[in-house]
Amino acid sequence: MPDDRSHLVVVSNRLPVDRTVGPDGEPTWSPSPGGLVTALEPVMRSAGGAWVGWGGQPDLGLEPFEHDGIRIIPIDLSETDIERYYEGFSNDTLWPLYHDVIAPPSYHRVWWDSYVGVNRRFADAAIAAAAPDATVWVQDYQLQLVPRMLREARPDLTIGFFNHIPFPAYGIYSQLPWRTQIIEGLLGADVIGFQRVADAGNFTRAVRRLLPYSTKGAIVNVPDGDGARQVLAKAFPISIDTAGFEELAQRPEVQARAAQIRHDLGNPAKIMLGVDRLDYTKGIRHRLKAFGELLADGRADVGDVTLVQVASPSRERVETYRQLRDEVELTVGRINGDYGTISHQPISYLHHGFPREEMAALYLAADVMLVTALRDGMNLVAKEYVAARSGDLDGVLVLSEFAGAADELRTAVLINPHDIAGLKDAISGALDMPREERRRRMRAMRKRVRENDVEHWSQTFLDALRRVRRGDDLSALGAAPARRSAGQAPAPRAAAGAASTTPGGARG
Ligand code: F6P
Repeated sequence: MPDDRSHLVVVSNRLPVDRTVGPDGEPTWSPSPGGLVTALEPVMRSAGGAWVGWGGQPDLGLEPFEHDGIRIIPIDLSETDIERYYEGFSNDTLWPLYHDVIAPPSYHRVWWDSYVGVNRRFADAAIAAAAPDATVWVQDYQLQLVPRMLREARPDLTIGFFNHIPFPAYGIYSQLPWRTQIIEGLLGADVIGFQRVADAGNFTRAVRRLLPYSTKGAIVNVPDGDGARQVLAKAFPISIDTAGFEELAQRPEVQARAAQIRHDLGNPAKIMLGVDRLDYTKGIRHRLKAFGELLADGRADVGDVTLVQVASPSRERVETYRQLRDEVELTVGRINGDYGTISHQPISYLHHGFPREEMAALYLAADVMLVTALRDGMNLVAKEYVAARSGDLDGVLVLSEFAGAADELRTAVLINPHDIAGLKDAISGALDMPREERRRRMRAMRKRVRENDVEHWSQTFLDALRRVRRGDDLSALGAAPARRSAGQAPAPRAAAGAASTTPGGARG
């Protein structure tokens, strides 16, 4: 019997393909828009890769199938799994907790049980799909228990995990009743990737507080049989398909569409743009407040400035998301009612998603891009805007320092979204910024998104996994002074010099 197991298996909550049912009732699958799929497609195809994930709807009962050279392995989720594992533990416990409790996290034991059970099903599917000595790359916070489940069943595998969202400071993380199980789950991986250096630091500090394992820089020494296994926990900032976006933005039809958008908005002198999932982490309310006050103060005029706010629907059955939608739409209605005229609306609010071509046209049309997240793992919209403006080097990016992208896009107009007065000044300055300064800032950001595109990101991560497989010493990838865990006794003096731990090392 032929062995159809794969040497590279990706595991993520959602599959890289979206299912639509045509008028004839036949389902078709098309690639989901997004950088991860674009980055991994070529390597998955050449490795005969498999992708394990959920099809996005309850009880699809699908068998594995082939799509564009990738083996797709669907995981079935029931209505109850969706309520407890996806909407519950993933998006009403972990999501708010990992985003610095902007909204209060809910802790329910039945949600946790469901999270464990669904993680087990994803792990089992990956175990069955992986050839001997394969590499398995697990994505994101919905599946943090999978690495350990894989290692226990298949010690031959090389295992990676990448966290797409922030990892919080220990003072926040420690609220989680299952905090130790999650850390142990993640430490089943050989390489754990984070968006920011600070996230990786928060993780290694949590390890030292909760487990008697020593860490040295980005290396965690995890007991394994008689010895210890090195786990690398390090920042690998994710990016976008920069060349693809640049090319898209240069297409004549996309440029024509950008001109049409400006025309349809009544040819305002300045267009500002916000593009977000409708999520409370994105700081949409803060942005609206700042813009509303600028209009009230007379520092912005409805005839001159229009804000286009794209808010794509997200997690609509979770209560905090429902409330947010109501608040945002009330605020938009008020601002439009208070400051609108027959010919001009201050805010053009769009509660739906758009294809990439339309997004690129919106980026081209926008004089100022507003990314005011209160907390965000990376924020790829900021990088897409920069890539789209590579041709004309115009446009101003106003970027929250609480988005991961702020570590790289240092010449954006960096803001603290909680400081409404500062945000108003920043928006006002962005609207008036001279052309030469816009070019200078954009040029530096373009360099960064060209150097670190999503292919570079995935290659760097997969290269770290290759080193693990070769048995390389990982210390060179993350050396720093050793730290001792909270529960770990100081090493005896004679041994301390030889060992890699420093008694009393700093903890967060
Ligand atoms: O990066 C965070 C994340 O949850 C991803 O895992 C996901 O692709 C995206 O946001 C959208 O969220 P959801 O899959 O819950 O619609």
